[in-house]
Amino acid sequence: MALKIGVIGCGGIGNRHSINYKSLPGSELVCVCDMDKERADKLAKNHGVKAYYDVGEMLKKEKLDAASVCTAGAENGGHHYQPTMQCLEAGLHVLCEKPISNDIEEGRKMVARAKELKRCFGINLNHRFTPLTQRAKGWVVEGKLGEGLIINMLMWINNKNDSSPWFHVKALHPHSIDVMRYFAGPVRKVQCFMMKPATRKACWSNLSINLQFANGMIGHLTGSYDVNPAHGLERCEFIGTSGRFYLDNLFDRLTLFNNASDERTVIERNMMKAESFDDTFKNRIARWVEQLNEGADPEKIEASGRDGLGASEITHAAIESFEKGTVVDLEDRG
Ligand SMILES: NC(=O)c1ccc[n+]([C@@H]2O[C@H](COP(=O)([O-])OP(=O)(O)OC[C@H]3O[C@@H](n4cnc5c(N)ncnc54)[C@H](O)[C@@H]3O)[C@@H](O)[C@H]2O)c1
Repeated sequence: MALKIGVIGCGGIGNRHSINYKSLPGSELVCVCDMDKERADKLAKNHGVKAYYDVGEMLKKEKLDAASVCTAGAENGGHHYQPTMQCLEAGLHVLCEKPISNDIEEGRKMVARAKELKRCFGINLNHRFTPLTQRAKGWVVEGKLGEGLIINMLMWINNKNDSSPWFHVKALHPHSIDVMRYFAGPVRKVQCFMMKPATRKACWSNLSINLQFANGMIGHLTGSYDVNPAHGLERCEFIGTSGRFYLDNLFDRLTLFNNASDERTVIERNMMKAESFDDTFKNRIARWVEQLNEGADPEKIEASGRDGLGASEITHAAIESFEKGTVVDLEDRG
C-alpha cells in the first residue's frame, strides 16, 4: 500500500514536493496544509486533495505515514521546528526542507526527538541526489582517487534578500556543505571571512570558508548571493593521492583525472533525460519514499536530520568564526 503523505507549507517548494509524491507509485498525496487559507486551498485544488489550515487539525483527522515540512520563516528555517515536532510526536516520519532550522538549538532538539521516537527524519539536501554526484561518491568509496587530500566547493546564485546578516550562509550553504560532507565526511574545524557589497545593508552575501575534516582532509568553500547562476551555480573539486574529479553543476559534467595517466574521463549530462534542477527534488523524494517503503532503519536514512544538522552546525560555526576572528573547533558536532 502506498504511503499516505501530507505536505505542510504550500509555497513553491510545497508544490514541488506535492507533485513528486503524486507521481510516485510508493506514495499517495492525501492532503496539504498551510495557515494561509488561500494558499492551502489553491494547492489542494490543483492536486485534488484535502486542505487543512492547522497542523494539529490535520494530524487529528488524517491517518498519515509521513509529512513533508516545506515551511520557511526567518532565514528560510524559522518555521520548521513546530510542525516537524508535531508530526514526529504524532508518529509520522518527516522530510523537512533545509536549513533544518535557523536556530541551531531547535535543530539539535529535532534530531534528538526523532531518534528517541525512532522516526525517520530526512532533510531535503537535494544537491547530492544526482546521478553524477552519486557516481563520484562511488569513486571515493571504492578508493579510485586514493587517500582524500583536498575538497573545494563553489556555490552561487543571485538572491537579493537582505532580511538578516546570516540569510546567505544559513539558507544557501547547508547545500554546499552537505555536498562537501558527502564526499569528505564530518568537519572538525571552521574558519570564515564574509563580505557584502555597498548595495547590501544587512546580509553578508559573500563568504570564504576554510574547513578541516575529521579524516584530516582540508577544503575551501566560496559562496555568493550576488552572481548570476545562468552560467553555472556550483562546482566541486575533490583531490586525492591517486586522482581527482571536478563535478560541474550537479548533473552537467563530471571529469575524472587519473594521476597515473594523461587521459581523462568526462561524463556529461544525459541529453535524452534532459535533467534539470527539478530532478534533484524528484530523485531526493523518490529515495525518501523508497527508504520508507523498505522499512529503513531511521539511522540509515540518506541525507538525514543528522546530516542537515551537521551542515547547519558548520554554518553556525562559520558565523562564530567571522564574528570572533577565530578558528572554531567543532569536535564531534560537524
Ligand atoms: N531544497 C531546495 O533546493 C530548496 C530551494 C528553495 C527553497 N527551499 C526551502 O523550502 C522552504 C519553503 O520555501 P518556499 O519558498 O516554498 O516558502 P514560502 O514562504 O513561499 O512558503 C512557506 C509556507 O509555509 C506556511 N507555514 C509556515 N508555518 C506554518 C505552519 N506552522 N503550518 C502551516 N503552514 C505554515 C506559510 O504560510 C507559507 O505559505 C524553505 O525552507 C526554503 O529554504 C529549498
